[in-house]
Amino acid sequence: MKYKDIIREMTLEEKASLMSGKDFWQSQNIDRLGIPSMFLADGPHGVRKQAAAADHLGLNESIPATCFPTAATVANSWNVELVEKMGKYLGKEAVAQKVNVLLGPGINMKRNPLCGRNFEYYSEDPYLAGKMAAGLIRGIQFNGISACVKHFAVNNQEERRMVIDTIVDERTLREIYLTAFEIAVKEGKTKTVMSSYNMLNGTHTNENMHLMRDILRDEWGFDGVVVTDWGGNNDRVAGLLAGNELEMPTTDGETDKEIVEAIKSGKIQEEVLDECVDRLLDLIFTTEKIFEKPHIDFDTKEHHQMAQKVAEESIILLKNEGNILPLKKDAKVAVIGDFAEEARYQGAGSSIVNPTILNHTLDCLDESGIKAIGYEPGFERYGKKNKKKIDKACELASRADVVLLYIGLDEVTEAEGVDRENMKIPKNQVELLHAIYEVNRNIVVVLSCGSAVEMPWIDRVKGLVHGYLSGQAGAKAVLNVLTGKVNPSGKLAESYPIRYEDTPSFHHFPGKEVSVEYREGPYIGYRYYDTANVPVLFPFGYGLSYTTFAYADLKVSRKGVTFNITNTGNHAGSEIAQLYVGCKSEAIFRPKKELKGFKKVYLQPGETKEVTISFDDKTFRYFNVKTNQWEIEDAEYEIMIGASSVDIRLNGNLHVEGTAAPVPYEKEKLPSYYSGKVSNVSLEEFEHLIGRKVPDPNWDRSKPLGYNDTIAQCQYAKGGFARFAFHLIKFAHWFLRKIGKRSTANLIIMSVYHMPFRGISRMTGGMINMPMLDGLLMIVNGHFFKGLNYFLKQRKLMLKEKSSLTRETDAVKEM
Ligand code: BGC
Repeated sequence: MKYKDIIREMTLEEKASLMSGKDFWQSQNIDRLGIPSMFLADGPHGVRKQAAAADHLGLNESIPATCFPTAATVANSWNVELVEKMGKYLGKEAVAQKVNVLLGPGINMKRNPLCGRNFEYYSEDPYLAGKMAAGLIRGIQFNGISACVKHFAVNNQEERRMVIDTIVDERTLREIYLTAFEIAVKEGKTKTVMSSYNMLNGTHTNENMHLMRDILRDEWGFDGVVVTDWGGNNDRVAGLLAGNELEMPTTDGETDKEIVEAIKSGKIQEEVLDECVDRLLDLIFTTEKIFEKPHIDFDTKEHHQMAQKVAEESIILLKNEGNILPLKKDAKVAVIGDFAEEARYQGAGSSIVNPTILNHTLDCLDESGIKAIGYEPGFERYGKKNKKKIDKACELASRADVVLLYIGLDEVTEAEGVDRENMKIPKNQVELLHAIYEVNRNIVVVLSCGSAVEMPWIDRVKGLVHGYLSGQAGAKAVLNVLTGKVNPSGKLAESYPIRYEDTPSFHHFPGKEVSVEYREGPYIGYRYYDTANVPVLFPFGYGLSYTTFAYADLKVSRKGVTFNITNTGNHAGSEIAQLYVGCKSEAIFRPKKELKGFKKVYLQPGETKEVTISFDDKTFRYFNVKTNQWEIEDAEYEIMIGASSVDIRLNGNLHVEGTAAPVPYEKEKLPSYYSGKVSNVSLEEFEHLIGRKVPDPNWDRSKPLGYNDTIAQCQYAKGGFARFAFHLIKFAHWFLRKIGKRSTANLIIMSVYHMPFRGISRMTGGMINMPMLDGLLMIVNGHFFKGLNYFLKQRKLMLKEKSSLTRETDAVKEM
């Protein structure tokens, strides 16, 4: 241990006190030993340091900071150096605001397009997500502070996120859901990891010994700190045993006491606590050092420009019929769509940033050089069809050469805590598009949203520029792409299915009651569409440019591949070349191809560059559930170089010697997995894959409600009062939506409806403790008076205990 001497000086109570927050954002300090508290702040695409009222839902304002494009956007750049640079800027802002731990990046896999937080995550591919995350982490930590990769792990739905039990087989877990974290830990060297809210195969992630000890610590060698997601602690002692150092936010010492008692009763050894304290002290002391240097502020303008640069590299050109883009110099342009007036540039929830500057398209039109003949909103962002607005927009469109139509998803649809209801963009926007089509066929759509949407209207538009959620400078960046000042070079980091029904997890998303079964196994995103031959609207890795590229001369060696790319068009531009590997043996099922490397190269017209992509430890590996380790199958591998996952430009072969592990599967019992057609795997086959019976996914309505049951379950509680409260919440939700207050309605769902009872204690900073919660649960379970009595008694006890503690502390201070 590094801090043995300090730890020796500490009382048991002091050690335990470090294991949870002092308040909403800070860790505990111990002044007599010179241990300062550290500040943790969101995260991931800007600093959200709240100076006054604190919350984890993005409700109260934070100190202004640069709002960079969100992760879903940045991933489209496929540029690790760029994201590392962005990390450096982020870290600099965090240092300027005295933040020790910046809560990002978020790298959960996009298992399903409807996950409400997809805008905050990178990709459906673990390799790409891991590389981007590692870059961001290196950049942030370059400044001496800590990044915090989250949410570890398999946190892929927002519905019931604090209690849902994710049922996933070990191989899929390793290959799909953990690989990005592995890269973030090993290559990014993140100092902090945030555990997720959900359970993994029956255990809360921060208590899961397999995840936290076997994999994170022993296999990956992580020696940093694990912090719970806010209010995510379930059983503090079990968490500590699994190596969870810090619980956030404060519980006013309640869970520290549980640790002290567990040590006194011999339930856990004091050494376990000491090790956790040692790692936490290391994080505090190493990150705190940076604040000893003179305070340097950041240059708002320079950072804004950096945000613009990141956006420019991340914007994707998805359609360009008849080269409608870049816009011709003298083209008369009609700007239509409310998003041009009021930029949609980030998502809602804990990641919300208070931007230093904010560009809106209309304000930047003049300097862009576009010859705009007018602007019409065309629709109400939160309203229904508005005929008047459509008519005005059509009148304007009829006079233009080209229509720039700014549409997308609103702020409330893409938010933390709630999943999207469908993959559509609002009906009133589509109606507007159809009406404009009747008067002008030269439509270029500029899309603003942070996740995949259906586009049944795609053949009505000639151009499609996807800006995703491009941060505070995004509007300007998009204009630069439209005018050709910037040649688009982004490519999709997620697949765009034609219809939501085509997605492999369609039948098993989200888990509604107890659990969610990942029946599709490793076939998520392109791994599924490609293997099962399901056509998509836009494939993973797809994106156009104003120029064209030719690929040639593939050479495959044991070490990797080299090939040439030539810019065959008239514009300078960047191409993202992708290395995919497929295994020709059919002994072990796997996707047809998987991404194993990529490179972004910038080329002048006519220029050729040789590109090298090296193989690494992940190129040929698969996780064998029989040997319980990574193995290589002895086989012939197909080496593919693609401009997207379906546009393979060069092919090669390589024989790779294997590790001679036994085949872990009985092929005839896993027909869906061997064919890749996993959209409707039977329970029997899934159970065969995971090697055990899965838990009943439905609530046991006969049982009394407990700590881990949610407020939503009050609908079948024994206590009439609880059932009444449930209906009240339902009504409030319905009513708020009805009157158009969707954002407040969402809040009810996230912070009340899906909240487990234990959350009442974990999130009230010690106002309601666990014994008081027991009283509440008695009321819920039909013992109203007994429960109320118990609740009040426990409250009195708690207040008495607190006041005697305050007296003791005051006495110590006076001495
Ligand atoms: C989110 C985390 C966030 C934390 C603190 C939680 O609700 O899941 O991503 O870092 O709040 O705001």
